[in-house]
Parts: sequence; structure tokens; C-alpha cells
Amino acid sequence: MAHTPSRRALLTGFAASPILTAFGAGGLAKDAGVERRPPTSGGRLVGAAVRMDQIEADAALRRTLLSDCASVTPEIHMKWDALQPAADTWRTGPADALVGFADRHGLLVRGHTLLWDQSTPAWARERMLETRDRSVLDRYFDAVLGRYDTVGEWDVVNEPIDTENGARDGLRANTFLRSYGRGYIDHALRRARQAAPRARLMINDFSFDYDNPVEARRRAALLRLIERLRSDGAPLDGIGVQAHLDLSKGPLRPEILQPFLREIAGFGLSIAITELDVKEDDLTVSIVERDQRVADEVRRYLDIVLDEPAVQGVTTWGLSDAHSWLRDPGAEGLALNRGLPYDADLRPKPMHAAIRRSLTA
Ligand code: XIL
Repeated sequence: MAHTPSRRALLTGFAASPILTAFGAGGLAKDAGVERRPPTSGGRLVGAAVRMDQIEADAALRRTLLSDCASVTPEIHMKWDALQPAADTWRTGPADALVGFADRHGLLVRGHTLLWDQSTPAWARERMLETRDRSVLDRYFDAVLGRYDTVGEWDVVNEPIDTENGARDGLRANTFLRSYGRGYIDHALRRARQAAPRARLMINDFSFDYDNPVEARRRAALLRLIERLRSDGAPLDGIGVQAHLDLSKGPLRPEILQPFLREIAGFGLSIAITELDVKEDDLTVSIVERDQRVADEVRRYLDIVLDEPAVQGVTTWGLSDAHSWLRDPGAEGLALNRGLPYDADLRPKPMHAAIRRSLTA
């Protein structure tokens, strides 16, 4: 298979840890498209979300990605509105280029994402709501999963949980629920399995990390959803925990997070940390202090979650603060959020060291 992390990706950067080199000896690294079992015993995959235009324009960013990461997630190019902005218009260029880049360099690809309300193009939304015809979704799945058939892992459904807005069962009242009913998740997983029998299929969601009532309800709703999918025999292989950390949300607690991850693992699922970054809450203190707070949060988080053997890897949602989605596009200088491993000039920050330390601990 093309998707074998190169020796280089495994032996440099984060991957220099014994854990990751051990991982290189077997499991997913050898046969990403074929092996559906999660690589839980050896090491963990390190990855980052990127955009093709950014890595094309910046050789240093490219080098950083290749030296740190064994896996890559397209930040935007594999979303439905990016791939098929109109019913008769496909724009696969950036996603094709990113997958080609990954193949050439032996990076694994996390396919992100097939169904996300926010990235569903208006034409598809209207058609689904009007016709309730599953073939809209089916045709899209078949096309995308067929085209990107080397992608070993897919976020099939992104952000299906919403406990706060009156949605049934804690499910988000998104276009898919409104069009097809709560069975849309089962259907999506089955269709994905049919179109990509060798890929590992995930549900990916956010706000499970902190000790507050909303996140407690979200954790419970996710576990209920998993239980239902399991008893219905839906082909689900794992859960993506986005991990957009937030310094305003109070301390991370192992006694909250670990049992939650244990329960997911207890269903026989693997877990990926898929979108790690840190939202700061005080931009007025010194840069040194800010970077330390971010790194401390990441270290604490990873030390807690990596204790769970089912956690297969960690992807940061970008590499450089310059590209962070948390950045206010109008903001300059100090207002830049510093929640990624590299600063805007691509100098590694304490968060980078924190990730490496946690992974090798
Ligand atoms: C974000 C991207 O980072 C932005 O560039 C884009 O404009 C919107 O989407 N949860 C997800 C990701 O699953 O796909 C989102 O990515 C961030 C939140």
C-alpha cells in the first residue's frame, strides 16, 4: 500500500520516540488501507491538519510536517462543500493534491469529513430536506470513498451530538437528522463500509474534555449513541475526540476523562485525538507565560488521555499559530492565539515539547 509512513517520518521529529518506532514495526503502519484493527499496543500516530495551499506555499511548513508527522488530515479540502460546491460541479484538485503528497511521502491520511452539517453545500441540504431521498448521501459517499480509496480512516459523521438545543436523544438537529431521522448515522456508517470496506470508520465530536454540566451531558449522549449503534450492529470502528482545549474551562480531571475513554474502549472502539489545540483565555500576560500555560494544558491532557491504551494517536488542528482556525483573521500580533505547537514563524514552542514528552513518557 502507498500509505506506509516512511522510515523518515517514523524516525525523525516526534517519531524519534521508541514508542513510535516500535509502532512502525507493525499494525496500521504496515498496511493502513487493509488493517482495520486499531494500533493500540505499540506506539501512537502523530498527525496534523493542513491545507494544501499552505504547504505548497511554504517549504519550511512542508519540512516540519514531514519531520513531525506520520499522518495528515485535510483541514478543509475533503469537506462536502469543498469537493462538490454544486450538484454538477466537483472540485477535487486540492484534496487530490494532498492525498498525492501524502502518498509520495508515506503519510497516512485521516479522511475528514463525510457528513458535517456546517460543511454541507446548500444544494445538497435542500435536496435532502425536500426529497428525504438517501441516494443524495449515497451517491456522494460512493464517489468520495471510491476516489480516495487509499484513505485508511474516515470521520464519517462529524459533530452529531447536541444536548443543549432540544435535539432528541442528544443528537444534533442537523440536516441529516431532519431529512432522514436518527437512523442517518447507522445508514452513513453502513454505506461507508460498503463503499470503503477496508477503511476504519469513526464518529468525531467536540467538548467532552472538561468538568461541567454541558460536557457531562455530551459525554453521556455520545456513550448512549455508541451503545445504540453497537446493538444495531452498525459498522463503527472508533471515536474521534476533537480536543479543542480551552483555558477558560477550568482544570482537566483524570477522574472525569479516564472513565469516559474507558467506556468507549469497552465497546471495542479505538479513540483518536483528532483536532488538538488550545484556546487561550488571557492574552495580556507575557508570551513566555502564555506559551507555558498552553503547554501545561496539553501536557496534562495528554498525560490523562494517553493513559488509555485505546487512544491510537494525536492530531493537532494545524501546526503553526499563523494558520490556526482560532485566529481572528482581523487580529495582529498579541491577539494571535498561541494554541498550536509552532509559532507564526514556525519556531517550536513549549507545546511542541509537551506533546513529545507526553508521547514518550
Ligand atoms: C474548521 C477549519 O479549521 C476552518 O478553516 C474552516 O473554516 C471551518 O472548519 N471542528 C471540525 C473541523 O471538525 O472541521 C473544523 O475546522 C473545526 C471544528
